[in-house]
Amino acid sequence: MASKNALVFREDDETTIAVLPHLFVFVPKKPATISLPPISIRIVIASALLAGMVAWAVLNAASVSISNQEFVRNSPPGGSANRTNRHEVHAVNPDRRLRVENLPPRAQQSLFAWRNFVSNTFAGDQACAECHAAEYAAHQRSGHSRTLTLMPQSDLASTLSNQGVYKDSRREQQFTFTATEDTFVVRDDSNAPGVAVPVTWLLGSGTHAQTPIAVDEITQKGVELRWSSFPRHDATRPSEIGLTPDHERFDDFQQGSIECFGRPLDSSDIRACLGCHSTVTSPPSLPIMESMVIANVGCERCHGPRKDHVDLANQGLAEQAKPRLKYENAESYMNTCAACHRDETSVHPSATPDELARFQPYGIKRSRCYLESPGHLTCSTCHDPHDTVSHDRASSIAQCQRCHGNPDHGSGYYRSADHDAATFADAPQAVCTHEPTGDCIECHMPAVPWSEGISFHDHWIRIP
Ligand code: HEC
Ligand code: HEC
Ligand code: HEC
Ligand code: HEC
Ligand code: HEC
Ligand code: HEC
Ligand code: HEC
Repeated sequence: MASKNALVFREDDETTIAVLPHLFVFVPKKPATISLPPISIRIVIASALLAGMVAWAVLNAASVSISNQEFVRNSPPGGSANRTNRHEVHAVNPDRRLRVENLPPRAQQSLFAWRNFVSNTFAGDQACAECHAAEYAAHQRSGHSRTLTLMPQSDLASTLSNQGVYKDSRREQQFTFTATEDTFVVRDDSNAPGVAVPVTWLLGSGTHAQTPIAVDEITQKGVELRWSSFPRHDATRPSEIGLTPDHERFDDFQQGSIECFGRPLDSSDIRACLGCHSTVTSPPSLPIMESMVIANVGCERCHGPRKDHVDLANQGLAEQAKPRLKYENAESYMNTCAACHRDETSVHPSATPDELARFQPYGIKRSRCYLESPGHLTCSTCHDPHDTVSHDRASSIAQCQRCHGNPDHGSGYYRSADHDAATFADAPQAVCTHEPTGDCIECHMPAVPWSEGISFHDHWIRIP
């Protein structure tokens, strides 16, 4: 039986791919039969930990060696005591990307092995378009295809650099923006004179919001910027810049520290953001590098690496490329989604009901609809996992009614092991005792406001 967050694999598979909350981890099951270059794998596995540590030492050393470029050190203690993580602000070299040749040979080797492994096993979304046109087109519509964009390449970067400034009224602070072809830099000359923060990634498709983060590869630290972009109700108008959700907590900030720009991120925070918004991110043993990220929740995040499949399909032998991972039951299916959308194992015990409403697997897994229709209710009962969410209310209601709707029929259709319509009429029924012809979603899956005008439908289906 699959453990939490692990996908289900065929027994004879060469590799196990465990989907941890944030990234794929590849573990060879039978090293002798690995079809991938065994040496690479072994290097990755065996030297990963060690190399990671060595890499860290070197990285830290590297950051010392450029200390002449540091201009703001940790601020002295003071201000609110519950603020932690006062990071240094680092220098303005907009291209503080890691140079592989700065790493020790061992780390270079494992980096190289990892890259090789990724390029030998992953094909990329574009490669699927030709044969799976419908899924590809649906995926393009879905936010999944736009969860992670390089900031300089984003539409937002050009909007902001045209706009030039953004005033944060809560802090009486003014940010200025400049963009070139491959950089996007933010400054706050009054609070952090001389500092420029190059923004690396933009997270979110914009359906709800887009939040930028800056990653300093040399120190492996970063910052979630204080401002985000929000769509307007009137879609014809450009998006609006406002406070990043949850940043009220940082209204009070230390001048001259990285907090001028937003919430400091350490390497595990950055990994978490990238992990849930990407297809592949480098494993924890290797440094975070822009060039090692496969952006967006692509086909291969859910279907596993598919290079073999593409190669064989091109020779007309698609059926010979067994899927590396497949969904065997509703639970393993839901666990895949839960790696990012979250269930009870990954939400903090102190989470409030409004926060929980955004974690759909958490909600579904506690609903009687799921618990008492074993194996028959999962995300794709109501959603095409490839497509954007359908706001067609009638079709959502129809899903509820397949189990609950018709007083003359029961919910046995889903309860029976076979989906034979003949059993549909026999089973007991549960029909709404309150408003059986109303909008079920409105009452049983209401939209719960979360933050900054964003709301999520509570997936814990229950008596209101
Ligand atoms: C050259 C055509 C071709 C390309 C390119 C291709 N596929 Fe397929 N794919 C097929 C065919 C044919 C089948 C049906 C095979 C079968 O009947 O088992 C299939 C089946 C599938 C399935 C369902 C069965 C399974 O293996 O899980 C998935 C999922 C899938 N492909 C994903 C992908 C992804 C992801 C990509 C891109 C990385 C891709 N395919 C690229 C031809 C292709
Ligand atoms: C790698 C992390 C990850 C995984 C795995 C994942 N999602 Fe998502 N999903 C996201 C992110 C991030 C977004 C937000 C996209 C955006 O910004 O609009 C999202 C958005 C969505 C949306 C809204 C899309 C839209 O445009 O309306 C649906 C529906 C969804 N996910 C369903 C699923 C289902 C079903 C699964 C499992 C089969 C799944 N997701 C697996 C990260 C993930
Ligand atoms: C555990 C996985 C996970 C982590 C970690 C994560 N995200 Fe997300 N993120 C998601 C999912 C899933 C969604 C889609 C929300 C939905 O539609 O239910 C999302 C949506 C978003 C959105 C769209 C607006 C919204 O709130 O829906 C932004 C912006 C975003 N994330 C930024 C970030 C940033 C910045 C970080 C790191 C500080 C981060 N995320 C870390 C999974 C994650
Ligand atoms: C968020 C996770 C997710 C992403 C991203 C995703 N898929 Fe799927 N895909 C699924 C799930 C889950 C199924 C199983 C079908 C179901 O339960 O509805 C599936 C089924 C399929 C199938 C089999 C369809 C059938 O009728 O049997 C194909 C082919 C496929 N996906 C191709 C793709 C391609 C190509 C992409 C990228 C363009 C992609 N998928 C992206 C989750 C995903
Ligand atoms: C796969 C079948 C299935 C689907 C689809 C389904 N349910 Fe259920 N639901 C059940 C079962 C089974 C129960 C528990 C036994 C019963 O009441 O018949 C249940 C229970 C409920 C309850 C009572 C919850 C409680 O805590 O007592 C409500 C309310 C409900 N469902 C509403 C909905 C709504 C609204 C939808 C559509 C968004 C929906 N259901 C979709 C199968 C389903
Ligand atoms: C019983 C039907 C049902 C099931 C099962 C279901 N959803 Fe939903 N989901 C909905 C409805 C209805 C909406 C709201 C659509 C709208 O805006 O009208 C929604 C909205 C969403 C959204 C958009 C954000 C929001 O809250 O409006 C995401 C993301 C999502 N669902 C993901 C999932 C995932 C992941 C699963 C599986 C764990 C899942 N859903 C299972 C019915 C369902
Ligand atoms: C106006 C709000 C509202 C609407 C619309 C609504 N419900 Fe209900 N539903 C309720 C309330 C309130 C109860 C609890 C009634 C009680 O305790 O007597 C309930 C009870 C239920 C139950 C439990 C019945 C039982 O015997 O335990 C189910 C199942 C259910 N609703 C399904 C649905 C479905 C399916 C729809 C859409 C076709 C729907 N509801 C529409 C408010 C609503």
